[in-house]
This record gives sequence, C-alpha cells and structure tokens, in this order.
Amino acid sequence: MEVKTSLLDNMIGVGDMVLLEPLTADSFLENLRNRFDHNEIYTYIGSVVISLNPYRSLPIYTPDKVEEYRNRNFYELSPHIYALADEAYRSLRDQDKDQCILITGESGAGKTEASKLVMSYVAAVCGKGQEVNKVKEQLLQSNPVLEAFGNAKTVRNDNSSRFGKYMDIEFDFKGDPLGGVISNYLLEKSRVVKQPRGERNFHIFYQLLSGASDETLKKLKLERDFSKYNYLSLDSAAVNGLDDAANFRTVRNAMQIVGFMEDELHSVLELVAAVLKLGNIEFKHESRCNGIDESRIKDKNDLKEMCELLGIEQSVLERAFSYRTVEAKLEKMSTTLNVAQAYCARDALAKNLYSRLFSWLVTRINESIKAQTKARHKVMGVLDIYGFEIFEDNSFEQFVINYCNEKLQQIFIELTLREEQEEYVREGIEWTNIEYFNNAIICDLIENNQNGILAMLDEECLRPGTVTDETFLDKLNTICGEHQHFESRLSKNSKFLTDHSLPHNCFRIQHYAGKVLYRVEGFVDKNNDLLYRDLSQAMFKANHNLMKQLFPEGNPAKVNLKRPPTAGFQFKASVGTLMKNLQTKNPNYIRCIKPNDKKTPHIFTDSLVRHQVSYLGLMENVRVRRAGYAFRQPYEPCLERYKMLCRRTWPHWRGPAREGVEVLMGDLQVPHEEFSYGRSKIFIRNPRTLFFLEERRRQCLRDLATLIQKIYRGWKCCSRFLLLKKSQVVVAAWYRRYAQQKKYQQIKSATTVVQSYTRGWQARKLLRELKYQKKCEKAATTIAAYWHGTQARRELRRLKEEARRRHAVAVIWAYWKGLKVRREYRKFFRANAGKKIYNFAIQRIAQKYFLGLKSSLPSMSPIDKSWPVRPYVFLDGVHSELRRIFHLWRCKKYRSEFTSEKKAVFEEKLEASELFKDKKTLYPSSVNQPFKGDYLEISKNPKYQKLSSTVDEKVLLADVVNKINRANGKGTARIFLLTKKNFILADQKTGQVKASVPLPDVTSVSVSTQSDGFFALKLREGSASAVKGDFLLSSEHLIELITKLHHVGVTAADQEQLNVDISDEFLVQFKQDKVCVKFIQTPPKNGNGASCKRRNNRLLEVSVPLTV
Ligand SMILES: Nc1ncnc2c1ncn2[C@@H]1O[C@H](COP(=O)(O)OP(=O)(O)OP(=O)(O)O)[C@@H](O)[C@H]1O
Ligand SMILES: [Mg+2]
Repeated sequence: MEVKTSLLDNMIGVGDMVLLEPLTADSFLENLRNRFDHNEIYTYIGSVVISLNPYRSLPIYTPDKVEEYRNRNFYELSPHIYALADEAYRSLRDQDKDQCILITGESGAGKTEASKLVMSYVAAVCGKGQEVNKVKEQLLQSNPVLEAFGNAKTVRNDNSSRFGKYMDIEFDFKGDPLGGVISNYLLEKSRVVKQPRGERNFHIFYQLLSGASDETLKKLKLERDFSKYNYLSLDSAAVNGLDDAANFRTVRNAMQIVGFMEDELHSVLELVAAVLKLGNIEFKHESRCNGIDESRIKDKNDLKEMCELLGIEQSVLERAFSYRTVEAKLEKMSTTLNVAQAYCARDALAKNLYSRLFSWLVTRINESIKAQTKARHKVMGVLDIYGFEIFEDNSFEQFVINYCNEKLQQIFIELTLREEQEEYVREGIEWTNIEYFNNAIICDLIENNQNGILAMLDEECLRPGTVTDETFLDKLNTICGEHQHFESRLSKNSKFLTDHSLPHNCFRIQHYAGKVLYRVEGFVDKNNDLLYRDLSQAMFKANHNLMKQLFPEGNPAKVNLKRPPTAGFQFKASVGTLMKNLQTKNPNYIRCIKPNDKKTPHIFTDSLVRHQVSYLGLMENVRVRRAGYAFRQPYEPCLERYKMLCRRTWPHWRGPAREGVEVLMGDLQVPHEEFSYGRSKIFIRNPRTLFFLEERRRQCLRDLATLIQKIYRGWKCCSRFLLLKKSQVVVAAWYRRYAQQKKYQQIKSATTVVQSYTRGWQARKLLRELKYQKKCEKAATTIAAYWHGTQARRELRRLKEEARRRHAVAVIWAYWKGLKVRREYRKFFRANAGKKIYNFAIQRIAQKYFLGLKSSLPSMSPIDKSWPVRPYVFLDGVHSELRRIFHLWRCKKYRSEFTSEKKAVFEEKLEASELFKDKKTLYPSSVNQPFKGDYLEISKNPKYQKLSSTVDEKVLLADVVNKINRANGKGTARIFLLTKKNFILADQKTGQVKASVPLPDVTSVSVSTQSDGFFALKLREGSASAVKGDFLLSSEHLIELITKLHHVGVTAADQEQLNVDISDEFLVQFKQDKVCVKFIQTPPKNGNGASCKRRNNRLLEVSVPLTV
C-alpha cells in the first residue's frame, strides 16, 4: 500500500518558507541555517526551490532518490530539486505546458550544478530506447564541451561559467526527448587576455597543454609549459581537485559523442593554440623620420608559427599590426599604429577570435542536437545565467549582467503574481490586491530607447567627435540625473554633491537587490567592441576553413561601412528575445545561495546569506506568496490528513471531500476569515491556522496512538493467554499419551520374556526326543551300511577276478592273431610302399615347383634375363627348357603386337645383326640408332628438288658419304641415294648426278672389322658401270647403308645376293689398277674419326682410332 506522506512530516525547521511564523529576516535565516546544518540544502517558497550549495557531495542524487521522487506530488516529500524537475516534466508531458526552469544566484551558488541535476533527472525519468538514449547522451555531453571553453577558475568558483546559457530541451508528445537548442549570452572575453589575481584563463587552455599528446602539441606548435604563454596567469595555474589532463580527455570524448568530426576538433584546437601564440607577440618602438612612433614586432617567431597554424600570410598580419586603414565614404587612409595601439589590436583580435570560436561551438553543437522531426514539440527551457554581481569595482560587464537580472526579477514577479491570480480565479476565490515592489522602473532606466542608459551609451559611441567615458557620464548626468534610482556626484540631484562614497568617475544604480556603483572607465570601448577592419580582413584571408566562417565581415567583397551593432545593443536585444520566450512558458524557479566565501562545507556565513536573501528578493517572494493565502491544499489530501480531528469524519467520511472538510472546520471552530473554500482546494490565510491544525493533529495522533497501543496491548495479552491455555492442553495430552505408551511398552516386554522362557522349555523337550530318534536311526543305518559294504566288496572282488581273466584271454588272442597276420603280409609290404611313396613325393615336389614358378615368373620384356633359381638338381633340364619356352612365348607375344612398319624395321635390324654382329666393331653402336633411311629429306628439301626429280623410284636411303680419292686418300662429299634398282652418287652442292649404278652391277661390298665407316662397292667386271672402277666410300651410317643394300639384293628376285666381305685388308679396282686398302689401329686421338692416307701406288692405309 502506498504510504501517504506530506511535506509537513518529519520536517527540520520549516520546509516551505511560506509557513514560517513569524516571518522576519532573522527567522528566515535561522530556518535556512537550521536546515543547512541538518544537510537539508533545499527549502521551498511555495513552488520556488531555494538551494544552498553544500560544497560536498551528498547522497541525495542516487537512482533510488530519483525513483522516490518520480511521479510524486510536489509537497508530498521533503523539498528537493528533483521534486521541481518532476513537477515540471509531468506538467510538460501530461498537460502539454511548455516549461522553463530559471536558475539564478551569485557566482559559485550552484546554478550550473542545479541545471545539470535537472537535466539528469529528466533524462532518467523520460523514455528509453536506442535513439532516445543517443539524444539524451548528446544533450548531456554538450555540458562538458561548453564548460571547457566557457568556464574558468575565479576567486569565487573553481568552475565558474563565464557566459550565460539557455537551453531548450524539446520533447515529443510521449515526453521522449527529441533534441535541443542552446543560446549563449555575453562570454566574458576580456578573460582571454587578462585575468584578475588568483584567477585563471578559460579551462581549455590548461586542459590542452596538460592533456594533449606530445604529437598533438607538436602539430599545434605548442609547449607543455604554461609559463611560456603570456595569456596564461601562473599564480593559479593548478587548481585543487581539478585534473586538467583527464578533463581534456573527457572533453574530446564529449565532442566526439556530440558529433564533432576529427578535422573540426583539430581546427578548434588550432584556433586555441593560435590565441596562445597571439599573446606571445610583442611590439617595440621604431621612430620614423617624420618623428612619428611606429610599432614593430619584436620577435617574429611566434607570429610566424601562428600564421602557419591559421594559414595566414605573415606579411599581411604584420602590416595589420603596424597600420590601420580608415575608410570614409570613398576615401581610404592609412595611419600607423603606435605600440600601445598595436597591443590593443592584438588583444582585441585574441578576444574576438576566442569569443567567435565559442559562438561557433554553440552553433555547431546546436546543429548536432537539433530535433530531427518537424512535428510539434513541447519545450523545457533551462536558464543558467549569471546572478546579480556587486563587486568593489563594477564595470560594463556587471552593468549588463545586473540589467539581465533586473529583467529576470521583473518576469519573476510578473509570472508569480499571474500564477497566483490565475489560481484564485480558477478556484473562485476573491482577489485581494497585493503590495509589492515593481522593478519595471529600474528596467526602464536602463533599457528605455529614448533616454535609457544603454541608449545613451550607444548614442555616445556613434557620435562624431571626441568620445570618452567621461563625456558619456556627463550625458548620463544630464539625462538620467533626476531618475530616482540613478545616483551620480554631478547629477541634477544636489543631495549627492557631498556623498563621498560616490567617486566622480562613477554612477550608482539602486537595483531591486541593492545599490551598485559602476565605474565608467571602459564603458565606451567595451560597448564598441571594435576590431580593426585590417585585422578582420587578414583573418578572412586565412587558408583555414573555420577562420573564414568566423570573420565573414573581413570579406572584401562585402565591405560594409556601417558600424556593427554595439555590445550593449546586442545584449539588450538577446535579453528581450529571452524574456519573450520565457513569458510563453510556465516558470519554475531555483534560487541558489552560496553559504560561505571559502568554498568549504559546513560553514554558514550569516552576513553573506542574509545579503543574498535580500538581493534575490526571497522575503519579497514569501510576502507575495502569503499576501492572499499562505497555504492551500486540495480537499482530498486535506481531509485525509486532518480527518481524525472530528468524530464525524473519523475514521471514514463517506460523502464528497469538500463537505468533509467543511464539517471538519466547523467542528474545530476555525474562524471564517482564516480560510476560504475554493473549487478544489481549501485556502488557509495564516500559517498559524495551519500550525493549529498540525498541533491538533499531533495531539490527536498521540491520543490515537495511545488508544491503538491500549487495544493492541489488550489484544496481545489476551491472545497470549489463549495461546498459553491451548498450549497447556496440548502439552498435557502429549504427556498422557507418552506415560501410557511407556507402561504399555513395559507390559509388552515382560510378556515377551515369559513367552520366550515357556517356548524355550517346550523346544528343548522336543529337541531331546528328536535327538534320541535320530540316534536310533543312525545306529540302524550304520549296521546296514557295514553289512551292505561287506556284500559289495565280496561281489566286486569276484567281478574283478573275472574281468582280469577275460582281459588276459583277449591279449593273448590279439598277440597270437598279430603274429599270424605279420607273418602272412610281410612279403608284400616293403616293395609297394617304397614306389608309392616315391611317386607321391615326386608328384608333390613337381606340383610345388610349378606353383612356385608360376608366382615368380619374370616380366614380359624379352630383354629381361632374369629367371628363378633352380630348386632341385633333378629338375635342371626341365627348368632350362621351361625358361626357353617362356622366352620364346613372350617374344612371340611381343612380336604379335608389332605393326608392319615396325616389323620391317626389326627385320632390317635383324639383317644387320646377321651381317655384322661379332664381325665388325662398329656394329654395337648402330643397334640403338633408328634406321631413318632418308637423312636428307630429299623429296621435301627444295635444295635437292632437281636431284629428286631425276630419280623415279622410291628413295630407300639418302645420305652424304665421302668418296675417297685414290690419289691422296682424301674424301669428297657426295650424296648417296639408294633405290630398289640403283645407287646414285651426286654432287652435294649442285645435286648433279655423278654416277648411277644399277644394283645388279654391284657384286660385293667390303668393309673392315673395325669401327670405321669405310666401304668399297665392287662392281661386276665388264659392266658399263665398272669403267671407272670400284667405289671406295665412307659413311656415318655404314651399317644401315650396307644392310639396306644387302636387303635390296635379297628381296629383288632377279638379282644375285650381294656378298659382304669383312676383313681389314681388301683390294679395290681403280680403273686398271688394283689398290690394297689396309686398316690399322691407332691409339685414340682428339678427333676420333678414321683417316685414310696413300702410302704408295698400291696401298691406301686407313688408321682407325681404337675405341675405348
Ligand atoms: N548540489 C551540490 N552538491 C554538491 N556540490 C555542489 C552542489 N552545487 C554546487 N556545488 C559545488 O559548488 C561549485 C560551484 O557550483 P556551480 O559551478 O554550479 O556554481 P555557479 O552558480 O554555476 O557559479 P558561476 O556563476 O560562477 O558559474 C561546484 O563546482 C560544486 O563543487
Ligand atoms: Mg555556472
């Protein structure tokens, strides 16, 4: 069951200041302090949340707390920022009302933290899903990026926002975030070039130098040492509890999540580096001949590096720091800058560069986080803007900041009153006018278009002639002098003439939050916020994407002689837009208060808080809230809370809640002027009445508690007694049962003992009788056994005797029979058995031999000479016969596979073998050579075309031979053609036939026994061919040639067989003479061919080298 609680329960002090009684500044302060001391940092003023900065982390922002405050009514739980966030989110989601959350307070009061808490709460309770989570993550991650570039350590806050921020978070109809839009206000850019003592420049400079990798720093031409940069103050470079390096990583990561590209990130860092470099540029005097001082850059290295970073031409920037071009209508004039002016120009450039970079960042983030759909959005705006600032030395910045706060106060009063009034109308309560201070008059003093301070300042800035801060003050004195909130020493109001707290160069404004003294120095310059056109043009010329976007006015094509709007004017316009925006939304206020100046927990400085309470107008706020009715509550919870105060409503009221409340109030006799009945709520005028009700409720609760206690105790005792009684009966029953059970067990065991004795005695008696019977039976059996034994042994002996005799007879008979048979068959046995065994053995051996041979036969190749070993000597003949038969058989098989061509070749080879084998040494070398026949390819070769045409028949052999000359033994190359009928010798070169000899004329051929190729063809004596004598020739294919010649002789039927003489000496007929050709062997020489020499008329000697 849900427990109904209320803000009024367990309250430390008063949770809602509206109920504070009595309401004074002291009691207000005391209540805040009391709550602060008990870690209650949040307190309400109606629906406004006051937040005190605890300066330490409290365990009140856990996910459990989020769940606790989720979907609960605002006043149901103790005050918390989550209650406000929940209320705003639910009325946005459920009632379709756009919301804005206005967070104000002075620097360090916790505004930024509060805005982050609100955003994180909304992110936690709104819808989930991949797309929604991405949007949430991007919205949340925009914070670290903006904080790095827009926050700095100041004396008041280590993470002070130096810009105002308004963020619209857009939701769809379900309450899921769609995206957001961020607006930024007035970045404190003067910090870029100068920081007050004890303060730092913007975080990003320190983060970059501490956190970037060496490689990145090198690319950006930076060094890690802060002291190298003029723009970085050193006295507070390191801040306690701030890890710049880690934050740099967080920022990079956040930028990636938000959607910055890697090159964009790098460009941004380049600009940051450029600002640091710019600060290091220094100038020196240089006197010119005309006596005018001119500035020159001292050391150009930093300038060079900066120009390289931004892609600017160094000479252009150098010139822009030395000269200034003034354009008026159509005239252009160039004036020189002195050193002071050059420094001013440098700083103005740095400030402009950085502030424009910051604005670009905001635009870029907006691009990423903007809602993707065009559907209608509900909007929740969160405004984290600088609070009211009162310093010792207040300048232009404080002036515009305080103006903004005046406007916020105005809208606050307006909206609070409007809300109050609307509620009264809604509830039908009569409206009573409320007295309050309206600060519209102060706003008018500042923003009036005719004679407001900002308008005066603009007028002064735009006026021709000499304009100084003093002339501006004079103008104020004349125009605003009589305004009741304006104070100046020289104003028309003479009462300030002697006011020494008001210096001459200052003016004072009575803001709603107190008086602030402004020093006019710098007002004009800061309002002008001018950057020389030469510089903006130089920046536009930069070869750097981002720079071009940042300085669009530098584009020479768009030269605009009109002055840009002043800073004051721009700020007024943006504040105006913001106010219009806020007015359309339902406001929710968080007023942040800083408890001490030391940034330390547990310290509550009265004076400091009192001051803030006063200038935040919190008392005013309470008074406005209490002016009509201090407290209001819907009828249902009111009846639920107080129904115990009246018998008729307690414990249940069956009718409508309003009637119940009326009965209750009547019964309690609360005076009628103290409350009013609205349509759905009761309105209580004075907190005292509420406290009276609360007090009565407390008393009643006490009485009720006593009553409940009484009844409870009675009930408890009674039920205890009944329980005891019931227990006693149970215990008695259990005990009786136990006693009876025990007695029964005893009787049972006694009976068992008696029974067992009786049974024992009976059994023993029976046993004795049985034993006697058994003994008698055993004796009779033994006697019978002995008697049968004697009988059996006698019979056995007799049978054994008989069996022995029978066996003896059988043995004797067998011996005798055996003897007889052996005598009869001895003569046949030996002769037959020997022959049979022999035949058998031989058969077995032969069988084994054949089977063995079958499995070990050699291959089918005819040249395979292997043959299994002979196993038995007596098989020798068979073995070699079988080898022969096998060889013949496989040769036959081999031959049967021959084609007719192959057969002819082999026949020829066979013939050669028959002619020359073992007769001529040359023969073995010819065996491997294929007998090709036509070595000259006579019919195909065109060279021998003529020769081939003279030969009609088929050429069997065509080769080149040497014809040996008888005169000197030298050879002449000749073509040798062999056909079936002739052989022809022809000139090798011309192909002319030298001799054509019919084969029948050849009687024999002579060759040597050696390895030479000489041969003599002997011709038939008396034949026509033999006129010139025989032919002595030599050929490389001697064996083939002679074999073919011989073969033609053999195959031709009409020819006689050609004789082949093989001898180392033979005669050759040369014409009439016979010459002896003699072959001798010589030792091997280099050339291994045979050579022929003529020895004398009758002898040709052929030397044949010995073949090895
Ligand atoms: N609710 C909180 N719980 C714990 N610490 C807090 C809380 N609110 C603020 N702080 C602490 O106070 C410091 C200052 O808060 P914050 O930066 O929000 O101040 P601010 O009002 O935004 O100041 P400025 O106007 O200078 O930006 C924070 O850095 C944080 O340490
Ligand atoms: Mg801040």
